[in-house]
Formats: sequence, structure tokens, C-alpha cells
Amino acid sequence: MGPRVPKLVAAFVAGIVVAAVFALAPTSLLVLAPILAPIVAPIPAHAQDQPHSCGGGGPQDTTPQLVSMSAGMASTPIQVAVTGAAGQIGYALVFRIASGQMFGPDQPIALRMLEIEPALKSLEGVAMELDDCAFPMLASMELTSNAEKAFEGANWALLVGAAPRKQGMERSDLLAVNGGIFGPQGKALAKTAAANIRILVVGNPCNTNAYIARLNAPEIAAERWFAMTRLDENRARSQLAQKAKVPVAAISNVGVWGNHSTTQYPDARNARIAGLPVFDVISDHGWLKGKFIETVQKRGAAVIEARGASSAASAANAVIDSVASLRTATPWGDWHSLAVVSHGEYSVPEGLQFGFPVRSDGEHWEVVPDLKHDDDGWDRIKKTTHELLQEQEMVKGLVPAQA
Ligand SMILES: NC(=O)c1ccc[n+]([C@@H]2O[C@H](COP(=O)([O-])OP(=O)(O)OC[C@H]3O[C@@H](n4cnc5c(N)ncnc54)[C@H](O)[C@@H]3O)[C@@H](O)[C@H]2O)c1
Repeated sequence: MGPRVPKLVAAFVAGIVVAAVFALAPTSLLVLAPILAPIVAPIPAHAQDQPHSCGGGGPQDTTPQLVSMSAGMASTPIQVAVTGAAGQIGYALVFRIASGQMFGPDQPIALRMLEIEPALKSLEGVAMELDDCAFPMLASMELTSNAEKAFEGANWALLVGAAPRKQGMERSDLLAVNGGIFGPQGKALAKTAAANIRILVVGNPCNTNAYIARLNAPEIAAERWFAMTRLDENRARSQLAQKAKVPVAAISNVGVWGNHSTTQYPDARNARIAGLPVFDVISDHGWLKGKFIETVQKRGAAVIEARGASSAASAANAVIDSVASLRTATPWGDWHSLAVVSHGEYSVPEGLQFGFPVRSDGEHWEVVPDLKHDDDGWDRIKKTTHELLQEQEMVKGLVPAQA
């Protein structure tokens, strides 16, 4: 009994200190942090050797990390709306956003999750799991079936939710059903999103869904709308790396042209392996011109065939990559794939939401100019353009007349 008494007393005193800290205002917590830091989380010896950690003081700064981290943290949460958040991609995506993988480890996140009424219970389960992850940067969550509410003040909107294609459905039926979702969502975004909103449409058919939403939101600049072709780029990079037997990081400059559909053109002609033209490194040109393109075009169906469900984790990963390649400067000489509004580049009709090779300086993006195509490349670009024009025709009734 005897020797345990001092420990119990110490534990009691520590308990009172901790309780007092929780009762104090956050500013007092900062004052007490230097005292508490060694108790709560001992600072590893090497931490004091890192002169610029987390934007703290200079080389001689011995301020405990707890304080310097708070000071260097972005304080305003970025408002991120995710539609279809309880779906497969949503489930693979929101945890990665909340963990800091999309906007960095010091950026607080406010997640605004939209679902249809019948899926709200499931969404509550997702929110419970997000709570249970105790992500330090997850500042708040909004769960709603009201699009205007979901997009309120949003800086980013990731439009994942869409109606799936059912058996016997024609492409025009699918477009009509989704037009019924993306038209109103465009209007809601224009009404309540922040002025700096950027929108990435994932739900299929994503190019034309983005087109519908964009035309229903003329208040939002056309350059703020994107549709996702990054999964196709990533699939292409992976196929090229496997064929050339090189790490995937050696593959660059992969552009996917046109529609996120089986008419897309994953462009190996302009792609590079360790800086060299792909056609110089991979000698099997028959594969590059045939099987490679077909594999990428039909990869989605192959995943469904194998998994019994469509791509979800890889799609969520491509969402993270798409946002990163807009928010950060593209490495010099490289590009990434995004479907953006055409201003007539490469003779693509103006206004189409078209997959192009795009580069960014972190703020602004542009379609990479002056890339060369062979006849086969031009034929493929024409074919996918034609399909997008057909889709545009099918949704005429879903966009305002002036378009
Ligand atoms: N662009 C790409 O590369 C790419 C890749 C994979 C999947 N997709 C597409 O992404 C979409 C989502 O895929 P998934 O596997 O997550 O599907 P899913 O069916 O698992 O989830 C979709 C979710 O959206 C919700 N939803 C439906 N209508 C909604 C609305 N009006 N508002 C808000 N939420 C709504 C559903 O309730 C569901 O939870 C599909 O259209 C799919 O084809 C695109």
C-alpha cells in the first residue's frame, strides 16, 4: 500500500491540472502549453534541432512544438462540398480529404456532404466514422439533402453523386436523368457557393454533366469547372510503366483527350518515359497504337468485371490528384489531364467540356499548346469530339436557351 500513495497523489494532482486546463480558454492553453507540453507529449530531442519546423521561430528557437504548430496553422477551414458522399467513391474520398491528403496537413477542413434523402442515414454512419478517426484538421461536418445548403460558402465542390446507368437504359436516358441532378446543382452552386468556388465533376457522364451544370450557372466563370479524366491518365501511366518495366514515377506528359468514355484518346505519342518519347522507349508500337489505348478506354469495365463493382478507391485517388494538380504548380514541362471548357484549342468546338492536357501555376491553368498528333491521333480526337457533340445535342433541353 505505502509506496503507491505518492503515485496516487501525483496522479490526483495531474488530474486537477488537466481538468483546469480544459476549463480554461484556448488562449490560456497556449500560455500553459510550454509547461504542459513535456507532460502531454514529450518533445523529441531532434525536434529542437529543426530550425524552421512548422513556420516556428529561428535557429535558436527552443519554443515547444505545441505552441509553434498552433501559430503556423491555417485558421480558416476550407469549405469542401462532396455530393454522393455516402456512395462508394464518397466513402473512399471523404476520409482522405479529412485526413489532410487533399489540402495539406495544416489546413482545417469543413466537410459539407450532400446525399439524397434515402441515403442520409448511411451518411450519418460515414460521419460517425469520420468522428471516430479524430482527424485533427476536420473542423466541422454538414450533412444535408439540400444542395443550396451543401454548397453554402463552398470553396471546392466535388460532384460525385449521380444516377447510375440501369439495365436497358440508353445513353440519352442516362443523360436526361443526370441532367435533372446537375442542372439544379449548377443553379444551387451559383446561388450559395463562395466566389472562389472550383468544381470538379466526377459523376458520369462527367463531361456532359459538367457542361449542364456550368450552363445552368452562368454566374460562375466557365474556367472554374472541371470534369475528371485523371483516372484515365493514371491508368495510362500505370500501363506504360508496366510495359516499359520502369517505375510509374518515370512516366510523364500523359494527356487524355476528349470524353471520359470509351472514345477517349489516351495519348502515348506525346507522353514521356524518363524524359524520352514513349515511342523511342517502347519498341512494340503495335501495342502502343492498339492494345494500350483499348486497355485504358475499357479499364472501368474490366474493374467491374473483376470486382463486381465499379472503380472507387482509384477514382477517389484521382479526385485527390485532380485537385492537387490545379492547386499546385505543374512540374516544368509536364502536364495532367482534366476536362475543361474548350476555347477552340486544337479545333475542338468552343464550349465543350473536353479532356485536354492542362498545366497550372497553382492559381491559373491553361491547355498545353502546340502538341503534335499523327493522323490516328487526329481521327481519335475527332471521334471523341463527335460523341461529346452528340451528348450536347441530347441535353439541349436541360440547359438555358442562350447556350
Ligand atoms: N470520372 C471518373 O473517372 C469516374 C470514375 C469512377 C466513377 N465515376 C462516376 O462517379 C459516380 C459515383 O460513383 P460511385 O461508385 O460512388 O456510385 P454510388 O452509386 O456508389 O454512389 C453514388 C452516390 O450518389 C448519391 N446520389 C445520387 N443522386 C444524388 C444527388 N442528386 N445528390 C447527391 N447525391 C446523390 C447516391 O445516393 C449514392 O450514395 C458514378 O456516376 C460513376 O459512374 C466517375
